[in-house]
Amino acid sequence: MGTGIGQVAATHQCTVIFCDASAESLEHSRHILTSSIERMVEKVKLTGEAGRDIIGRCRWTSDMKEIAGADLIIEAIVEKFEAKEALFKAISEIIPDQTIVATNTSSLSITALAATISHPERFIGLHFFNPAPIMRLVEIVPALQTEKTLVEKMQHLMASWAKTAVVARNTPGFIVNRVARPFYGEALRIFDEGLAGCRAIDTAMKEVGGFRMGPFELMDFIGHDVNYRVTESVYNAMFQDPRYKPSLTQKSLLDAGWLGRKTGRGFYAYPDMEETMTSYSSGLNPTEIFGRIFAMLVNEAVDAVYMNICSEEDVENAMQLGTNYPQGLISWGRTFGMDRIMDIMSGLYERYREDRYRPSPLLTNI
Ligand SMILES: NC(=O)c1ccc[n+]([C@@H]2O[C@H](COP(=O)([O-])OP(=O)(O)OC[C@H]3O[C@@H](n4cnc5c(N)ncnc54)[C@H](O)[C@@H]3O)[C@@H](O)[C@H]2O)c1
Repeated sequence: MGTGIGQVAATHQCTVIFCDASAESLEHSRHILTSSIERMVEKVKLTGEAGRDIIGRCRWTSDMKEIAGADLIIEAIVEKFEAKEALFKAISEIIPDQTIVATNTSSLSITALAATISHPERFIGLHFFNPAPIMRLVEIVPALQTEKTLVEKMQHLMASWAKTAVVARNTPGFIVNRVARPFYGEALRIFDEGLAGCRAIDTAMKEVGGFRMGPFELMDFIGHDVNYRVTESVYNAMFQDPRYKPSLTQKSLLDAGWLGRKTGRGFYAYPDMEETMTSYSSGLNPTEIFGRIFAMLVNEAVDAVYMNICSEEDVENAMQLGTNYPQGLISWGRTFGMDRIMDIMSGLYERYREDRYRPSPLLTNI
């Protein structure tokens, strides 16, 4: 991620110093950045001169002192709180007061990370999506301690890097990783209940909903290690709110080492895409499958606005640019009919009596 983010900055005239503890990672970073720029030159997306200039603005080092004079430091090391905490403590020793420090964390609390640095008011979350040079979205996440003007400053900077920035309150999963949970979670629930098999669910989401990939194909693509851990981390960080409950079936894939495409086996066996687990009866038709998952997604998007996680405009942008959904969920929900979404949610709530299916108070009023 660090290499991709640095490539974006260097492409937009910034001098970039890549700093990593591992010499091997630094070499790998130099190699992937250089080959990415060379490919763009070959495809005439960049002139040779522009390509050379971008690479010329980059430097790779394992000596942290070299980043002491930077205006902005973006941390993208391993996703472990203790590692980031140790790094921010070390950075605090070498940077002047005015340096802005950002983290690209996907799942850790920005406020808790800010508390590890000498000037928490100059600390902020800048959550890029993978691959950073291609994905337009960046979630800007201020810590509780972040000074207000820094958000605006980062919005300007991200616009100058040709990114679409959305602002999220520091809550688990920020916007995208929170609002997208039902795409996986409700699909898994339908599967676990034996109401439809994974291919039937994938087909319904693609054919009825126009999603590029179905939930099971996408989970296999992302990898069950990554996808399950994000779900588990959001669930625990939300004090076990049943809306985000992980699936035992997905956990069993993780336990078996069936991580998806990268291990050749997940919900499907590759390359033939045979289903690996028995599908039971087909209790729901494609429209019902789509309706149930879609209603949960719209409810989650509306609730993010209700809970002041973000603005309506930002949740719309975030889900289209961060996950490539065919439409913004709230405007799509309006076209579908918010009263129909409410009917589906109320029907599920009546049937299961689970808090998981509680409709957002804003659902009929947005
Ligand atoms: N991979 C993604 O899709 C993705 C997307 C968005 C955000 N993120 C976030 O970006 C961060 C990095 O993710 P990644 O997938 O690029 O990880 P990665 O494991 O590929 O890379 C982490 C790099 O950090 C280096 N490193 C580890 N400890 C270090 C230290 N103390 N000092 C200096 N360098 C150190 C490692 O050598 C490695 O090169 C994580 O916080 C992750 O949550 C990842």
